[in-house]
Amino acid sequence: MTVSPNAPRSPIFAANWKMNSGPSEARTFMRVFLTRYARRPDRTVLIFPPALSLAAVRDALRERTDILTGVQNIHWEAKGAFTGEISAPIAADAGATHVLVGHSERRHVFGETDEQTAKKCAAAVAAGLVPMLCVGEKLEERERGETETVVVRQLRAGLAALSNAQIADVLIAYEPVWAIGTGRTATPADASAVHVAIRAELQNVAGEHGRAIPILYGGSVNAQNVRSLLDAKGVDGVLVGGASLDAEGWATIVRS
Ligand code: PGA
Repeated sequence: MTVSPNAPRSPIFAANWKMNSGPSEARTFMRVFLTRYARRPDRTVLIFPPALSLAAVRDALRERTDILTGVQNIHWEAKGAFTGEISAPIAADAGATHVLVGHSERRHVFGETDEQTAKKCAAAVAAGLVPMLCVGEKLEERERGETETVVVRQLRAGLAALSNAQIADVLIAYEPVWAIGTGRTATPADASAVHVAIRAELQNVAGEHGRAIPILYGGSVNAQNVRSLLDAKGVDGVLVGGASLDAEGWATIVRS
């Protein structure tokens, strides 16, 4: 999925359904979405449904191998007595190719630590899944001028257990916590500044391997603002929550 740094990057549109849409709703969604979005080679579409809806989504995609699917979370152990958890090998066996790691809701609602994000990224890679490591500052951190410090810390910590070659295959999502689900979006300039800092840090950590890693923006992205965010320097795609739940709306975003 990595792209040449010199070629125009083809954008990635990722949908994070969070805890919405069971299998029946997922089937209805896919029926509508697939009629509204014809395969396009100049973009990548990725859907993260709830794990229990993954089979329904994948079923609908049998003829549409252009659309990728992932899970929203994994445990770092491969198997064992971890009631309620899903491991990377289980997710891969169920057809997921990607996994969100360190989403702000995992960090701030469920107390996921930087160390855990590192273990999850390593577990994902070991199982052949592509981790999308999510980083982002809280409002008070931004107000204290700590945005870069926080994002760089989360980035370094999350990638700590991977080799440089493995880092080349991850995806990064920058999602300011204050912009998630709030209707408040970072301006393209604000997003751009952080994306540029993330790129610099990726190259710092992984050298050449950090040059082409796609960096997505997330946080109240919708059909109205998606174009200006994608046009911002350093933004290689978007991770969309609320606005990805409506099939027509999601198709509009993906076609933009
Ligand atoms: P939002 O969520 O688009 O609803 O703000 C984004 C996310 O949490 O990934």
